[in-house]
Parts: sequence; C-alpha cells; structure tokens
Amino acid sequence: MSAAPDTGTPAAWWPGQQTLPTAPVADRRIAFVPMTLADLDAVHEVEKRAYPHPWTPKHFRDSLQAGYPVVMLLGQALPGEMPSPARSDGRVLLGYLVAMPGVDEVHLLNITVAPAFQRQGWGRFLLDALVLWSRGQRAQWLWLEVRQSNQPARHLYERYGFTAVGVRKGYYPAGHLAREDAVVMSLDLRTPGAVQPGGEGA
Ligand SMILES: CC(C)(COP(=O)(O)OP(=O)(O)OC[C@H]1O[C@@H](n2cnc3c(N)ncnc32)[C@H](O)[C@@H]1OP(=O)(O)O)[C@@H](O)C(=O)NCCC(=O)NCCS
Repeated sequence: MSAAPDTGTPAAWWPGQQTLPTAPVADRRIAFVPMTLADLDAVHEVEKRAYPHPWTPKHFRDSLQAGYPVVMLLGQALPGEMPSPARSDGRVLLGYLVAMPGVDEVHLLNITVAPAFQRQGWGRFLLDALVLWSRGQRAQWLWLEVRQSNQPARHLYERYGFTAVGVRKGYYPAGHLAREDAVVMSLDLRTPGAVQPGGEGA
C-alpha cells in the first residue's frame, strides 16, 4: 500500500455489474462498484480491521477528489450471512482498491480484502481486474509498495508475477517514532503472456 495518494487523472472504464467468469467463489454474485463518499464509513471500517496502520478517511477522500479509480468489490450476501459493516443494499464489502494512473504506468495505492474474506481468492481477483483495466489504459507497468513485514501481500504479489525492484527506506510509519522500509515491486504489462488471470506470472 502506498503511504499517501498523489495527484492524477480521471478514472475511466471498470468491469461492471456482472458475475465475472473468474469469480473465485462462483456462488456469490459480485460487482465492481466505484466508491463514493457515501461508502467512506464502511470502507474505513474495513481498512481499520485490515491494517495496524490504516489509511485515514482523508486518504480516501483525496483519492476520490483526484479522480483515481477507487473501486469496491461487493458481493451478494449468502443465506444467513450478516454483512458487517452493514450496507443499505444488503451487499457485502469484500474488498477494494485504489490506483493512480500515470503516463504509461499505473501505481497501486491500496488493495484490501476484508479480513473475513481473505484467503478465498479475492486478492488475486482484484489484481486481475486491475491488470485488465490498466491494459485498457495502455499502461506498460504496474507499480506498488509493500511493507517489508507484510508477508501475505508480498506472497500474493510474487505469486502473481510482480518483481521486487528496490527498497524505500523508512517509507511507512511503524508505531512510536519508528519507520518501516517498503519493497517496491513492478509488473510488466507489455507481454501478453506475462500475467495469467487468476494465476501466476510466467
Ligand atoms: C494481502 C491481501 C490483499 C491478500 O488477499 P487475499 O484475498 O487474502 O488473497 P488470495 O486469497 O487471493 O490469495 C492469493 C495468494 O496470496 C498469497 N497469500 C494470501 N494471503 C496469504 C497469507 N496470509 N500468507 C501467505 N500467503 C498468502 C498466497 O500465495 C495466495 O495463494 P494461495 O492461496 O494459492 O496460496 C489480504 O491479505 C489483505 O487485504 N491484507 C490486509 C491489507 C494488506 O496488507 N494489503 C496489501 C497492502 S500492500
């Protein structure tokens, strides 16, 4: 996750309101929905559950204001499931991502799967959607930073085909006056076979 959003260009097309063929949990109807300010409380609630050092509401507001794609992955609630945080439409907030488009690259600022839905394939699914969208923007590279200690996320990115290309010293806050390094990772989008949706890089 990036330490803070920057400036950018308007969001464009994003996969819509259909059940996508690569949905990891086929029984659940899902949709990608652009986040609005009305979703801020629910998104921030998940953010607090997912991170020891969560983004503040301002980070999300700034990203929305900058026009970045801020996209929620919503799922139909399954029988007996009580969505938490509750949504007025009764759907479940499975996860979300925030990306910053550049000239020929996209920078992933935040990708989060709600703790109750982790290890079900949704993280990889969000990356699939981001790669699809980024290619639609003619992006050649996908960039991100990840905390050195965040093994689940590093594992996800490595398995997906990202390569570690550097370290940003003291990039993240890490408690009382402490800082933690970020690993910078990139994914080459130029080669059609470099990324296999739902699977690992070549
Ligand atoms: C990182 C995160 C997005 C992964 O999402 P997820 O939906 O749980 O991941 P998936 O189920 O799609 O898993 C895909 C792969 O990621 C890796 N992975 C995911 N969670 C892992 C864990 N806890 N430990 C080790 N590897 C893990 C595995 O390689 C996994 O493949 P496998 O299940 O076939 O072994 C999720 O754990 C999360 O939101 N964490 C908190 C927020 C965060 O750290 N975001 C990243 C900031 S840079």
